[in-house]
Amino acid sequence: MIPEDHNKNSNPDKILSIGITGVEFGVGVTVVQPVNLYGCQIGDEVFIGPFVEIQKKVKIGHRTRIQSHTFICELVTIGDDCFIGHGVMFINDTFSSGGPAGGDQALWKQTNIGNNVSIGSNATILPVDIADNVVIGAGAVVTQNIIESGVYAGNPAKKLKDL
Ligand SMILES: CC(C)(COP(=O)(O)OP(=O)(O)OC[C@H]1O[C@@H](n2cnc3c(N)ncnc32)[C@H](O)[C@@H]1OP(=O)(O)O)[C@@H](O)C(=O)NCCC(=O)NCCS
Repeated sequence: MIPEDHNKNSNPDKILSIGITGVEFGVGVTVVQPVNLYGCQIGDEVFIGPFVEIQKKVKIGHRTRIQSHTFICELVTIGDDCFIGHGVMFINDTFSSGGPAGGDQALWKQTNIGNNVSIGSNATILPVDIADNVVIGAGAVVTQNIIESGVYAGNPAKKLKDL
């Protein structure tokens, strides 16, 4: 319940807008607004659905599709011909010091996704390397490097089968 003495402004005191800022696009890219894309590199013929956020220094390879509601944080690289499902969350801060690292980027970790990797909806990808030709199931939580091709699912993600 909202308390009686709640601030009754009809707008917040501060509104920040990002949109598309300082992005390097390849040719033939499709973006469905609204998105927040800033300081990243997007390869040729990439598709980016609505409500996606891609942070600075991220690199997305050619022909990769990023479906709606996905969040791709700094220090993530994604290869060519990948499919990133709806609402996939990437993580660079594992709270390794007992809480959020804040601005201490020395505590952030990288993620590298190979080529032809398909990630199911609502998967969470902690800072890991994922090999080429991998399928990640919907809702998976990937906590360790995946070094061979195959289908992986679950929390923590385990190999279901070869491709
Ligand atoms: C992981 C996945 C690729 C496996 O598909 P599949 O090879 O046809 O697998 P099956 O449906 O035969 O399931 C095999 C086993 O894995 C389990 N399983 C399947 N998907 C799972 C998932 N996402 N998480 C946990 N377990 C899963 C099944 O329950 C089954 O278990 P059982 O052998 O104990 O019965 C698929 O289920 C999936 O999650 N795809 C993601 C699709 C997606 O998100 N698309 C986005 C665009 S809409």
